[in-house]
Amino acid sequence: MTVDLDWDNLGFQYRHLPFRYISYFKNGKWNQGQLTEDANLHISESSPALHYGQQAFEGLKAYRTKDGSIQLFRPDQNAERLQATAERLLMPQVPTDMFIEAVKKVVRANEDYVPPYGTGASLYIRPLLIGIGDIIGVQPAQEYIFTIFVMPVGNYFKGGLLPTKFIVAEDFDRAAPYGTGAAKVGGNYAGSLLPGKQAKGNGFSDVIYLDPATHTKIEEVGAANFFGITADNQFITPLSPSILPSITKYSLLELAKDRLGMEVIEGDVPVDQLNKFTEAGACGTAAVISPIGAIQYKHEYHVFYSETEVGPVTKRLYEELVGIQFGDIEAPEGWIVKVD
Ligand code: PLP
Ligand code: COI
Repeated sequence: MTVDLDWDNLGFQYRHLPFRYISYFKNGKWNQGQLTEDANLHISESSPALHYGQQAFEGLKAYRTKDGSIQLFRPDQNAERLQATAERLLMPQVPTDMFIEAVKKVVRANEDYVPPYGTGASLYIRPLLIGIGDIIGVQPAQEYIFTIFVMPVGNYFKGGLLPTKFIVAEDFDRAAPYGTGAAKVGGNYAGSLLPGKQAKGNGFSDVIYLDPATHTKIEEVGAANFFGITADNQFITPLSPSILPSITKYSLLELAKDRLGMEVIEGDVPVDQLNKFTEAGACGTAAVISPIGAIQYKHEYHVFYSETEVGPVTKRLYEELVGIQFGDIEAPEGWIVKVD
């Protein structure tokens, strides 16, 4: 039985669902995690997660298919990225099996909130890993919490498949050249709040960041990766050690090549060469594929395919990706994990 919600207008917002998963790491090992109805974390005031940002998170989704079953999209990739982030911040790793089993458990427990097939909405899953305990020096925690909560969501950017506009940050960087840009840590997002607020205040969906070393190449969007399409059938996306390795982006690289027959390139995307792109987009779990209608860079306003209509290649990529996620199109081997 699915609950009664306005599935078409969910937006992307927190909702308090009945169950979440929690596991504690103490004395060098994870305990047997369990479901709880308590949505509040009870942690020491001196927890390193609070003071020094020793924390990481993930984002993935569960999808309701036509036959009513529920499935996950590449959860092993999220587990592996969380492990990479944990390594960077000296946190204990959550093994892939434990991660996927915990995700399944919390999705199953909140099954009634997985949006019905056909609404386009999905269940957003937010795993969180935090360092806790009585420590005040700048050093790694001895104890950790791994928790997962979920909520039904719709579009992250207001337009959905309608193009929106973005602005290139001139005075801010998202990450440092050898910093934590490739790790999914809260600090990267704390730093993006101010530029994001300014961008939204000026009518843009989000900020596009440039490479922090030279400020000449596009890195990524505040909450998604960037891609561009050229007239000669190329799918081009930035390659940089300071962007988040987007699972959606790597999936699109494969789909563009294998299913759309495109030439795919991970490389430099000079911000002064936007006119080589006929279409552009932002991609990510929350963003899915959001067409970029236009980019403001300094005094130039560059329009791609159209400000009101999604381009044909972006649309085709969207249909392929979303078709796979909702089980309507056959997925490449290993991409789909059923929640049974
Ligand atoms: N880049 C940033 C900064 C993000 O926050 C996200 C969201 O997770 C992405 C890219 C997209 O990554 P993914 O496709 O794995 O969700
Ligand atoms: C995601 O797409 O899962 C994200 O983490 C993006 C954003 C909500 C921070």
